[in-house]
Amino acid sequence: MNHDKKNPLISRKKNISLKGEVIVAGDKSISHRALIFAALANGKSKISGLLEGEDVLKTAAALRLMGVEISRGDDAVWQVNGCGISGLKEPSDILDMGNSGTAARLMAGLVASYDFTSFFTGDNSLRKRPMGRVFEPIQMIGAKVLARQNNLMPFAIIGAKNPLPIEYVMKVASAQVKSCILLASLKINGLTTIIEPEKCRDHTEIMMRYLGLEITTQDFEAKGKIATKISYHGLQEFDAKDFNIPGDISSAAFLIVAALISKGSRLKIKNVGINFLRDGIIKTLLEMGANIELQNQKFVAGEKVADIVVESSELKGVNVPESRAPKMIDEYPILAVAAAHASGVTKMNGLAELKVKESNRLLMIAKNLENCGVTVKMGDDYLEVKGGISQPKELVKIATSMDHRIAMSFLIMGLNIENGVEIDDASMIATSFPTFESIFRNFGCDFI
Ligand code: S3P
Repeated sequence: MNHDKKNPLISRKKNISLKGEVIVAGDKSISHRALIFAALANGKSKISGLLEGEDVLKTAAALRLMGVEISRGDDAVWQVNGCGISGLKEPSDILDMGNSGTAARLMAGLVASYDFTSFFTGDNSLRKRPMGRVFEPIQMIGAKVLARQNNLMPFAIIGAKNPLPIEYVMKVASAQVKSCILLASLKINGLTTIIEPEKCRDHTEIMMRYLGLEITTQDFEAKGKIATKISYHGLQEFDAKDFNIPGDISSAAFLIVAALISKGSRLKIKNVGINFLRDGIIKTLLEMGANIELQNQKFVAGEKVADIVVESSELKGVNVPESRAPKMIDEYPILAVAAAHASGVTKMNGLAELKVKESNRLLMIAKNLENCGVTVKMGDDYLEVKGGISQPKELVKIATSMDHRIAMSFLIMGLNIENGVEIDDASMIATSFPTFESIFRNFGCDFI
């Protein structure tokens, strides 16, 4: 999709209830990883439930530029012809990662241990995001990096001829950094060790185990937190296996909050990934008094999934601890919308990372909520939202700053704003949740 032309969208109060069953788009994190691992397997893999959002399609396009055959069947099942852990070719063009930090940082790790040169770029939002966090470990491995000032995109990576095993202590709780190193380690002869002072999403580790790779993880306590030591000995080949990707809890969160704040709602969201390092939003909403039930819990390819049943509820403000942040890092925009509908104050702590997401999310949440008539207080790494909306007299203009999650959160906020909200651009929603608008329109939402 061309994002040069903005696509404004209005959402306004229409007293709808969300009822019935719904399926959300596939998990974004798992989709990127499924494509990458399928590309590195020996043989053909089939992927069902792949998120067909622009972010994931960027990963597919990058892999194709490296010689991997990827196709989509009419039944929406994707087929990937894997080329083995050493089979990628030098990308024949610049890898354009669009809006996707995950695609950029994971692919940077992957190419770092290949003896060739790769060029990366991204859209206006991604070109402002910090890449130094992955440059440090890949340089230790022996790759060379050339980037703009402040480690910004576009950048080039000259992969290492003889990539070295490293021991790396992570400086930010980032699954993208961890996965970048693990992808580089696949082709490294020796033991790569990652120390994760604070656990963050482990889809890469789960997928590696599912594929039969021997990866060890060991938890230990350090500075009052559960830290993890991850070790992997590279050069293990693996055979292709099929993937069945669950729904994305980060997308489900928009429906959950919409149902909670819309009277008379009872919604079942089927087959959603509820990995314990992603379920912070459920825990927090339960603490706020939400009526949420997890049904039909099971494990699929090592990932925990469930049907989420949610009913409209009276919410109350809570204190969200800093330790919760890695488990719900993408859900603060929509949590803030829930908090605006709660009684009392919700304080969210440990939010520094929000400033370097697709936008400065901390600022965008605070500014836009204020415009919607909500009292907020923002600090360097926290946000306080006082429940209660003093209805604005006119249509509220929302700036999304190329951020899909700000766009979706404020369309949900609009469901309870009499004069409505107008987001400046809905086109970015296609990066992570292409079916968002149609799902909400089916529930009777007045998006115009
Ligand atoms: C992701 C990790 C998170 C998250 C992003 C997806 C991943 O980013 O915000 O949407 O798939 O590894 P960080 O690793 O920067 O926290």
